Amino acid sequence: MRKVMAKNSYQTEWNGINLLEIAKDKATLNKNGLPNSLFYKKFYNKLKEKSFNVNDEWKNLKRNTSTMLESIINDVANELNIEAKKLSIISIGCGLGIVELPFIEKGYNITLHEIQSESLDFIKEKVKQRNLNIRTIEGNITDLMIMEKYDIVYLGFIEYTFTQKKEYQKFLSSLYNLLNTNGYLISIESTPDFTKKNLKNYVGDFLRIIGLKRKHPKDAIYWGVLRTLDEKIFFWKKSGFTLKEYGIIDANFLNILYRSKDLNNKIQTNNSIGFLIGKK
Ligand SMILES: C[S@@+](CC[C@H](N)C(=O)[O-])C[C@H]1O[C@@H](n2cnc3c(N)ncnc32)[C@H](O)[C@@H]1O
Repeated sequence: MRKVMAKNSYQTEWNGINLLEIAKDKATLNKNGLPNSLFYKKFYNKLKEKSFNVNDEWKNLKRNTSTMLESIINDVANELNIEAKKLSIISIGCGLGIVELPFIEKGYNITLHEIQSESLDFIKEKVKQRNLNIRTIEGNITDLMIMEKYDIVYLGFIEYTFTQKKEYQKFLSSLYNLLNTNGYLISIESTPDFTKKNLKNYVGDFLRIIGLKRKHPKDAIYWGVLRTLDEKIFFWKKSGFTLKEYGIIDANFLNILYRSKDLNNKIQTNNSIGFLIGKK
């Protein structure tokens, strides 16, 4: 695999919500300049004001993610020789819970975790409309004492928020403790591996290194750090996980492009999504 480095991630707006405007209030950023829980609270409140109107493209991507995740969970169920719906699953940092909704509808044993109650309100309402039940856990995952153990922990676009190596390690250790023996950790997140850089990006990076350009672009907020698959594997193993599989999913979440065995010397694509499956 091409050797690349973790990449800072920046964002300007999301579904018509101006993130810079929220970040104008410095109390919404933590000491590393990253959105804190107040930021997410304000963000989800703005989404609420817009009646949670999000664009169809995003909804389609989330729908595709559910299908892809279900196939990964079925593979795990086959390996564990257990019916998929009997596995106890927890989704950490579920956001609006759009990915998880089909699992609730199909009767999977899934718990939804989020740091923000405002986003959980959305999924709670959706589930209520369908006369279904939902189990939720609120709070910062690294501070919570959860007694229950799970067969599968799912992470969808959340690891980037742990920018410091120590924090990321602490996060992974808390997930390790959440799992039953032989439990699985599944992660899906953008990765800089295979993300094409153009000349402008290279020049920008160079100017930033020699101090002639601002460290962070001024038209966006610092959103987190995207790690390469190699870096994640390093931290996952350090936290006790055995890597079962990893690779690249296409940008529309429709299929797995490359599995670990055929990752070498692959042509670069744009907006790569990485996946990892680890075992306790
Ligand atoms: C990009 S969203 C991903 C949401 C969802 N998993 C998905 O794939 O659509 C990141 C989520 O992580 C949550 N989050 C941020 N920091 C967190 C923390 N320390 N513990 C738990 N959740 C956190 C945010 O509230 C946000 O909902």
